[in-house]
Amino acid sequence: MTFTVQDHFFRKAKKHHYLARAVYKLEEIQKRFKILKAGDRVLDLGAAPGSWIQLAGEIVGGAGLIVAIDLKPIEHSFPKFVVTVQGDIYDQGFVETVLHDHVPFNVVLSDMAPSTSGIKAADSARSALLFERAFEVGLWALAPGGTFLAKLFHGSDFHRLLAEAKKHFSQTRVVRPEATRKQSKEIYILALNKKT
Ligand SMILES: C[S@@+](CC[C@H](N)C(=O)[O-])C[C@H]1O[C@@H](n2cnc3c(N)ncnc32)[C@H](O)[C@@H]1O
Repeated sequence: MTFTVQDHFFRKAKKHHYLARAVYKLEEIQKRFKILKAGDRVLDLGAAPGSWIQLAGEIVGGAGLIVAIDLKPIEHSFPKFVVTVQGDIYDQGFVETVLHDHVPFNVVLSDMAPSTSGIKAADSARSALLFERAFEVGLWALAPGGTFLAKLFHGSDFHRLLAEAKKHFSQTRVVRPEATRKQSKEIYILALNKKT
């Protein structure tokens, strides 16, 4: 199999000045499920380099808020309604300090992914941990009725994590956007309408 780094979505992102091809995954989910709207307050976990921030920013606009967190610095400069912070989502003190003044959110997004080792079981276990952490933060930070969307490498934890999402949200969907690379195991769990 040939692995094309500069594929169609890469070139399209470059042409439209998006920071990453990942934007087309969120764009498809947005087209299908309308998870973001003008004025929304959005928490974006694993946000670097920032293509989801760009797209979400176009939708929520200046009446909204985006708080974006990543281990890596988010170097692009965004409008004033975007707050970018560098840090580790597992660091509870950091998360509480950053989010304290901004909760609650309407939408929590997580495109977090572990750096991969190539060992499928290990990579999917680490992805599951990131998903669980995003879910924990999401349950704390989301307003009732809120939306949670997070990436997960499909593996043995999938059914347990989906069942957990179903406990706390009225509806769930499992989505594999077109822009996902063919060889990738990633899917997104979308959970709508957080229960009180
Ligand atoms: C696929 S990239 C996100 C791309 C982004 N959605 C965009 O559109 O530009 C995954 C990100 O997850 C971040 N990440 C992984 N583990 C993390 C952690 N423990 N805390 C915060 N961010 C993390 C990585 O640093 C990486 O930038």
